[in-house]
Amino acid sequence: LLPPLKVAVTGAAGQIGYALVMRIASGEMLGKDQLIDLSLIETDQGMSPLRGVMMELEDGAFPLLNKVTATTDLNEGFGDAAFNLLVGATPRGPGMERADLMAANAKIFAEQGKALNDVAPIGAKILVVGNPANTNALVASHNAPDMWPEQFVAMTRLDQSRAAALLAEKADVPVKDVDRVIIWGNHSATQYPDLSHARVGGKWAKSIVDDKWITDDFIPRVQKRGAEVIDARGASSAASAASAAIDAVRDMQLGSGDAWQSNAIPSDGSYGIADGIWYSVPTVCHGDSHYRRVQKLPIDEFSAKMMTKTEKELIAERDSVRHLLPGHEGKPVSW
Ligand code: NAI
Repeated sequence: LLPPLKVAVTGAAGQIGYALVMRIASGEMLGKDQLIDLSLIETDQGMSPLRGVMMELEDGAFPLLNKVTATTDLNEGFGDAAFNLLVGATPRGPGMERADLMAANAKIFAEQGKALNDVAPIGAKILVVGNPANTNALVASHNAPDMWPEQFVAMTRLDQSRAAALLAEKADVPVKDVDRVIIWGNHSATQYPDLSHARVGGKWAKSIVDDKWITDDFIPRVQKRGAEVIDARGASSAASAASAAIDAVRDMQLGSGDAWQSNAIPSDGSYGIADGIWYSVPTVCHGDSHYRRVQKLPIDEFSAKMMTKTEKELIAERDSVRHLLPGHEGKPVSW
């Protein structure tokens, strides 16, 4: 067995956290030969339910689980953690505007970015799940000037999985036969689930499903799948979100061959997307957290329009938290 790696999870007593920590402990994220030290981070109010989660982790008797600790202190929680899954966030309360939600979460992720900057080991990996995930990743990264922006990834893997599952259902094939589905942009209703390059059993998806189904059913359904789950379950997606986080980190760390995995990463201007926003693109994961963006895909007119729409939303989100970024306090600075 490999010596323990520390994995930190914020919001560990929440719905996603509850599903996530069990699966990390079982070895599904980092492999069946990797010992794990779990560092669970919660708010003061979260500490009591977290004690229950810790009891259940103990009762799970996971052979790979070396140690479990709980804290409200970010430096203690993130210190020495090779992987940091930032799940905890402020939910949208009654009467709260989207801008208020942005600001409340920007504050949390600014603090977390600062703590990571101080205590994260070189090469630590950060997956931001808490919403608004893309902009939270941007805020955290701006507050961690000694870290590479690329160390911060916002999760759009759940959207990719939802899109792949929906295409598989339509094509009447198992989901494993579907690949190269792309999520562009924001983890929000403006995201663009793109089937232009997707394949079903090695054939072009577009030769199997028609354009009308893609524009009228597929795209809006993927964009609004979160709301569909809330309507049915009375609570937001949790087990599937945890599953997506496991898949995203596992693929990044252990590699997933030449498969395309959508991740929201800092834009470098590729595809004409504004520099420095966290924008979901297809990536290829080589393992050991080396990933590269899939480059030079042909983009048709419809796709370009959809990609710009979600880019605009991300720019507006960035602008709404700009005053909270170091060096930009209250000032209208050019980016
Ligand atoms: P939840 O409300 O059940 O749990 C959140 C937990 O985070 C709570 O236990 C809370 O005490 C804790 N928390 C809040 N602020 C914290 C802080 N500053 N530090 C540490 N812990 C903190 O929420 P749930 O369902 O687990 O969702 C968590 C987040 O993930 C939400 O923002 C949700 O919108 C987002 N989400 C993202 C998805 C994605 O695909 N990127 C998919 C589904 C949810």
